[in-house]
Amino acid sequence: MLFPPYWVLLGLSITVPVQQAAEGSFPPPCDSKIYCTGELLKQVQLAKLFNDSKHFVDMPLRESPEVVLEHFKQLVNSMPGGALSKQQMVKFVGSHFSPPGNELEPWEPPDWTSSPQLLNRISDPKLRSWALKLNVIWKQLGRKVSAGVKISPQLYSLMYVPNPLIVPGGRFIEYYYWDSFWVIEGLLLSDMVATAKGMIQNFLYLVHKFGHIPNGGRIYYERRSQPPFLTLMMESYLKHTNDTDFLRDSIHLLEAEYRFWQEQRAVNVSVAGKQYLLNRYNVQIGEPRPESYSEDVELAAGLDEEAQQNLWAELKGAAESGWDFSSRWFLPGPPPLPATRQDTQTSTVVPVDLNAILCRVEQLLASFNKALGNGEKASWFQAAHEYRAAAVRAVLWNDNAGIWLDYNLVRQRHNQAFYPSNLTPLWAECSMEADVAKRALHYLKETHALSYTNGIPTSLAHTGEQWDLPNAWAPLQYMVIAGLAKSSSPQAHDLAFTLAQNWVRTNLAVYEKYHAMFEKYDVEGDGKPGSGGEYEVQVGFGWTNGVILQLLDFYGDRLNVTGSEA
Ligand SMILES: *[C@@H]1O[C@H](CO)[C@@H](O)[C@H](O)[C@H]1NC(C)=O
Ligand SMILES: *[C@@H]1O[C@H](CO)[C@@H](O)[C@H](O)[C@H]1NC(C)=O
Ligand SMILES: *[C@@H]1O[C@H](CO)[C@@H](O)[C@H](O)[C@H]1NC(C)=O
Ligand SMILES: *[C@@H]1O[C@H](CO)[C@@H](O)[C@H](O)[C@H]1NC(C)=O
Repeated sequence: MLFPPYWVLLGLSITVPVQQAAEGSFPPPCDSKIYCTGELLKQVQLAKLFNDSKHFVDMPLRESPEVVLEHFKQLVNSMPGGALSKQQMVKFVGSHFSPPGNELEPWEPPDWTSSPQLLNRISDPKLRSWALKLNVIWKQLGRKVSAGVKISPQLYSLMYVPNPLIVPGGRFIEYYYWDSFWVIEGLLLSDMVATAKGMIQNFLYLVHKFGHIPNGGRIYYERRSQPPFLTLMMESYLKHTNDTDFLRDSIHLLEAEYRFWQEQRAVNVSVAGKQYLLNRYNVQIGEPRPESYSEDVELAAGLDEEAQQNLWAELKGAAESGWDFSSRWFLPGPPPLPATRQDTQTSTVVPVDLNAILCRVEQLLASFNKALGNGEKASWFQAAHEYRAAAVRAVLWNDNAGIWLDYNLVRQRHNQAFYPSNLTPLWAECSMEADVAKRALHYLKETHALSYTNGIPTSLAHTGEQWDLPNAWAPLQYMVIAGLAKSSSPQAHDLAFTLAQNWVRTNLAVYEKYHAMFEKYDVEGDGKPGSGGEYEVQVGFGWTNGVILQLLDFYGDRLNVTGSEA
């Protein structure tokens, strides 16, 4: 069965700017010949002038891109063989680029309050005083785009947005897409409604400009997105404000983003003789990630050109999934070949979580349109939601395992491994099977995912990648906990509370030890930040703080760390 898009059915036009590549070739990561592609980027990044490859592509230009490129060409031409020494490159970068960081300025949110109402709902005094400290961190993470970026955008890799915002923290000095969903939830619970609205308006602005929301606020992220939470951001905001005017003014952009996913990220899957249309992460751009250039070149060393380009495209797909990197996307050869990052094949996976999120998006767009009196569109989105739920059941539900599993298009079967994302349809309330909460409990026990008391691990595979064992991430904890809590099973409710208590205790124990909040945590050992992957663990940290505030909101009357060793 094929599902015709409503813009065809209703003859509507939602314009989505689409980047078209010439036949048989990949488009570049963006049009910038400095930040995304070209000889200057290549030479500087391969010379490894900085510890973190992201440093160079975040540096603003001192002169126009044309002048910088012309000077670079002259310098290269003046050298026999065109090769620059490391010293010359350091000098060139120093004289043509300024250090990163000033393109965003510290900003104290005017709606920040020292005593959000949430505090009154937290019984445990120790948790209440911790929440007070987390609330202060919003002020440290507040940024506004500097005037220079608006006046001369061509000098910056930062992408202009109109409103100030909260950044994740650490090396992530700009805004990120899916991080911001959890940040916005935290802001709303901290009574910072105006800041939350400004961030949503920024994302709407990006949809208006690009037709989709880039992974993060840099030009080199332009052609990859991230898990599509924009419509859910709007839902959270409306719950706190009932601001229907804002919804009416923006619904066409929510729909445009949905259209991007349906037009650019959909895939047909045939199961048992029937065809279903579902979604996947898929970024067909065959160049190294500009912000991890030398890492990607080294990873692809020894492959032929086509294999290199395919690997780079798949790495960008993994970045789009938010899970960069993870054995979840590895498609290795037959055992005993070890699976490594070089086996990343994100586009061959139909992921449970992406389809759960879109299932929720369709349901929300149905109810939003209904509330606005757009009956025809509401019916279309309701039908799309039902179509998705049936497709999720047919393609992703595994009755033996008693849970949804990622489907691999090449192997034409499920990936049997445990990931917290396998439970996300519970959270999205998509495609509910009979007794599904009970079966999910059984699944969690069977897989031993519950044997880690510091949190739910991202997978059960030790690979050294950051989206694998032993790391645990706040958004995944939240989606599992909320899914169990939404069900009708009392046992699932109890487990949801236990998991929330475990996660809160881990975060607090680590906070007391390190005086910081981290982007990820280690489920092994006695409470420490996570590790592994491409860069050092980062502090701040936007989504971690947002999720803790959500758990305190939900369970504040019951959570108790005073009686624990935390
Ligand atoms: C780069 O890393 C080295 C080794 O980890 C460290 O000693 C040095 O301070 C770092 N340099 C910068 C500029 O961060
Ligand atoms: C929004 O409207 C609903 C229904 O009228 C009401 O129950 C709710 O309290 C309102 N919420 C806010 C934040 O005003
Ligand atoms: C799915 O298959 C139908 C034909 O059966 C085709 O019209 C459609 O373009 C396909 N969609 C994608 C995303 O491949
Ligand atoms: C927390 O637990 C301790 C000991 O188990 C108990 O004394 C205390 O009253 C509890 N606090 C709350 C807020 O439930």
